[in-house]
Amino acid sequence: MHSLVAASLLGLASASSVRRQSPPDNTQPTGKNPVSVGRTNFLGEQHSNNSCTHRDLGFTGLFAGDWYGLYGDTLYCAGGVTDPDQDTGGFNGMVRDALARLTDDPLTIEWAALNSDTPIAHPTQFVPYNEAWGETSSTGFGGTSLCQIDDHTAIVFYLINNNDAGLGGAGVAKVELQNGNPVVTKRMGDEGYWWDSTNTPRYGDVAAYVDVNSEYIYAWGGAPTTVTDTIGSQYVYQLRVRAADALDLTKYEYWWGRGQGWKVGQPLTEFTPETAVMWGVGQGSTYYSPYYETYMYVHFNGGDVAIRTAPAPEGPWTDDVSLYTPQPYPGGMVYAPGVHPYTDSTGETMTISYTNNNHIQVIKATFNSK
Ligand SMILES: *[C@@H]1O[C@H](CO)[C@@H](O)[C@H](O)[C@H]1NC(C)=O
Repeated sequence: MHSLVAASLLGLASASSVRRQSPPDNTQPTGKNPVSVGRTNFLGEQHSNNSCTHRDLGFTGLFAGDWYGLYGDTLYCAGGVTDPDQDTGGFNGMVRDALARLTDDPLTIEWAALNSDTPIAHPTQFVPYNEAWGETSSTGFGGTSLCQIDDHTAIVFYLINNNDAGLGGAGVAKVELQNGNPVVTKRMGDEGYWWDSTNTPRYGDVAAYVDVNSEYIYAWGGAPTTVTDTIGSQYVYQLRVRAADALDLTKYEYWWGRGQGWKVGQPLTEFTPETAVMWGVGQGSTYYSPYYETYMYVHFNGGDVAIRTAPAPEGPWTDDVSLYTPQPYPGGMVYAPGVHPYTDSTGETMTISYTNNNHIQVIKATFNSK
């Protein structure tokens, strides 16, 4: 009798210590991915019709009825060159990020704001740097999608990269329409950011999304810089906020994992597979598919453009279905796919752009009938 009690107490003790040692890994694939790809066609490379650049990223977002792409490092072509394929090489100036209006043709964009270069003007920087905060024209700004609050106001999440001095933090800028163009009118936070990268995930650096089925804006970001091991540094964490409250830091909700859920105004302080939502996915694009009636995260899985699905933007996410394998340019990398939902409101096809070594390439996937 005594030994049985002792044995079952031991059993309980060891079961709970096992649980303590290995918390659930909420980044493991869950559920069935319904996506079935019929074919994927390469449409071509995306160019601007009012300047000449090489660039990367191109996160898509809807604001005041127009779709925009927010690009990263935007390198100007040589003076007077109109076709980037005919560029003469060399460094001719750049901005860290620039915004373009997308057109009905996913291969053509129109820069929203241009400088006074002649004969060919070049795009201006979208998120301005602020010398009072120690920033210069070479401070890195990685921005993701424009996220609409209302017809006149949007936000954009960005990450400040102080180059040799490391990452600063992730922040939010207020964007307003001026003469029909989105302009950053305010950067939030005393130093131009809200989430210090040394102790907080880089929210918004991986993806940002305005949910079409709720009032929320969601943002995903990588681990704080103090997490340096190869595995730990690749977990992705998430927050959300009601769009109407997106300029009020106290209203942000932080995801503490499937067990604890969302906590309003309580930034995450534990960076584990339990509090993370995805692992190693890289930058991408969240989209609600009206065809599959499910959320999708479109990203690169290794060298493949891939889709995973979830019943809600916060997950849980399935494993990936691959769509397409681009051929990287020599010495280049492929990354950061962006969905262009305006090309097909049924969702039966999906047009996606991605970066291939400072070129933006566009593909179109057609799903099988269900
Ligand atoms: C670029 O394309 C847009 C949308 O089609 C069009 O309104 C604009 O006039 C074009 N700009 C130039 C310079 O061709």
